[in-house]
Amino acid sequence: MPRPAIDLFHEAFGAAPRAAASAPGRVNLIGEHTDYNGGPVLPIAIAQRTTAVIGPGADGDEGVLEAVSTRDKQVVRVHWQEALPTGWAAYVGGVLRELWSLEVIPPNGSARVALSSEVPIGAGLSSSAALTVAVTKALAPNLKPRQIAGVAFRAEHDHVGVRCGVMDQTISALGMRDHALLFECASLEATQIPFDARLLLVDTGKRHDLSTGGLNQRRAECEEAVKRLKVELPELQWLASWPAEWLPRLKRALREPLRSRAVHVVGETARTRFAAQLFQEKKLRQFGKLLYESHESCRRLYECSSPELDTVVAAAKRAGALGARLTGAGWGGAAIVLVNKTDKKTVPAIQRAFERAYGRSAPISEVHASAGAHTERL
Ligand code: GLA
Repeated sequence: MPRPAIDLFHEAFGAAPRAAASAPGRVNLIGEHTDYNGGPVLPIAIAQRTTAVIGPGADGDEGVLEAVSTRDKQVVRVHWQEALPTGWAAYVGGVLRELWSLEVIPPNGSARVALSSEVPIGAGLSSSAALTVAVTKALAPNLKPRQIAGVAFRAEHDHVGVRCGVMDQTISALGMRDHALLFECASLEATQIPFDARLLLVDTGKRHDLSTGGLNQRRAECEEAVKRLKVELPELQWLASWPAEWLPRLKRALREPLRSRAVHVVGETARTRFAAQLFQEKKLRQFGKLLYESHESCRRLYECSSPELDTVVAAAKRAGALGARLTGAGWGGAAIVLVNKTDKKTVPAIQRAFERAYGRSAPISEVHASAGAHTERL
């Protein structure tokens, strides 16, 4: 809904906006921490979206970005070529820099941006990609979805400095209603797979901040693992390309914690490709088993789970859910739970277990595969 952002634009800048666009957050069904290792991911775009409403800067305000969000309604003013502020406005500045390098906007271009979002921040639902993709689509509506994903990715990765992969921006730009996207992050091959399953989202309420968190550290560990494994296999480019049948050799070549990180990535890569195939064949029970395995691998080997996420997944399993796992980077955030359409037991079972463990409730909602970025009418 563009209305809150349109109203905010008027309120903050005393002028009418020129264009608007929105982009969704995402959940990842399986394929965690594989994207920056050149492996596959299987995300869907969710119904919650971020809306960006834009207009030109004030007369004479060259090279200035003014940005405001419904969250605090404070206008951030920045010379986007020179320095980026901290916080969410840095992501908007990063998009301007990228659009400048594509010559979509001039070097002294100015812009005003108002944002509103339904995607909770730090919940592992990719609020940052929803933001960068929405702003890119609003400022450059004629770019192709893959170009938009590229701009949004580089804004976050190169300018804000989060060492993320390409999954979040790609699904936010390319997502299709009622479809999941199998995306191979090395070849960039994209396959839309019909999504017709009952999927629950459980928000643990524990927030993470990826710009300071474990993601950068994990990525460095994966790079170190590739460096060492190149001694064994000089042509190795991506950790995910290590042959799964050579796991014993990988284990001999690496020490902890690199060994565990690499075993996760190689295992998760094979698991995700198999899972996508099962999902396409509608073999949800087998698919669900792989979700549990993926969670276990994230927890034990990649060490990116949290006690709250483990509580949710264990309760789902006990209640007989088809599958469950953390989604997104982990270290808090949300879990997904795959259930039969007639299942009535899983939701109350998770609620009971969570309340018993943490003395508070964890909101549970149903996830629908939604459309990627599009322009909005003003
Ligand atoms: C974050 C990153 C993604 C991906 C996931 C983990 O969401 O932004 O690129 O690496 O973590 O799968």
